[in-house]
Amino acid sequence: MAMKLKEVVPLGRSFDEYRLMFNLSKSDLEKRIIGVGDGPASFNAEMNEMGRPVTSIDPIYFFSAKDIAQKFNKVFDNIIEQVKNTPGDWTWTYHMSPDDLREHRSEALTKFTQDFEQGKKDGRYLRGELPNLNFPDHTFDIALCSHFLFLYSDHYDYDFHKSAVYEMLRVSKEVRIFPILDLMLNRSPHLEPLIDQLRADGYRVVIKKVPYEIQRGGNEMMWIFNKSEGKMLPI
Ligand SMILES: C[S@@+](CC[C@H](N)C(=O)[O-])C[C@H]1O[C@@H](n2cnc3c(N)ncnc32)[C@H](O)[C@@H]1O
Repeated sequence: MAMKLKEVVPLGRSFDEYRLMFNLSKSDLEKRIIGVGDGPASFNAEMNEMGRPVTSIDPIYFFSAKDIAQKFNKVFDNIIEQVKNTPGDWTWTYHMSPDDLREHRSEALTKFTQDFEQGKKDGRYLRGELPNLNFPDHTFDIALCSHFLFLYSDHYDYDFHKSAVYEMLRVSKEVRIFPILDLMLNRSPHLEPLIDQLRADGYRVVIKKVPYEIQRGGNEMMWIFNKSEGKMLPI
């Protein structure tokens, strides 16, 4: 047993974790980026500090920073408890232990909450949700989605995943999704049918190994290129 969650939980990762999970290069970081389902990650706050504003979308941005922190605190102890009870299911190379993980998630939450109200005013945090993104076609170069699609495969069916991915491909030249495992550490059952569908529709799809792992075996991301982007496959 890896992890049982009744609903999607608002846990956030840092800039450094995003960089590794999504294999983001220096030049990627200069592109127009949208983080879909960014929740209380500190990626947006840290990118903004570096002078590279990005757009984050999440339904949870309806709430205040204080409410989001409360939601995080409500579920967090139980998550760390489940992690401690399933030691064989986790890889301690980036985070060194469950307590180290606790510290990293709390740090990300703090950076997010400190940035959130200003970021909302700047239009960097927008309330929105898949499978509909309120942007014109091709607004972004890179759409990122971590720890939502595929991870919650029991909660969202194939049709949701398909609509969500095609919507991200509508607004962005390329899409990167991490991880491709579900909460029970199995490859998502939606992955292969979705790859087949995307390839049949002419998209380039790559499953790329990345230098980040916490779920045991969860060190791959799905990388999808819009038809016009296929020529410059960076692998
Ligand atoms: C586990 S958190 C991951 C946050 C961030 N991407 C990260 O990896 O640090 C999952 C996020 O997905 C968001 N979410 C739930 N339903 C969504 C939807 N339909 N569209 C986009 N995001 C959604 C949740 O509010 C939550 O913040």
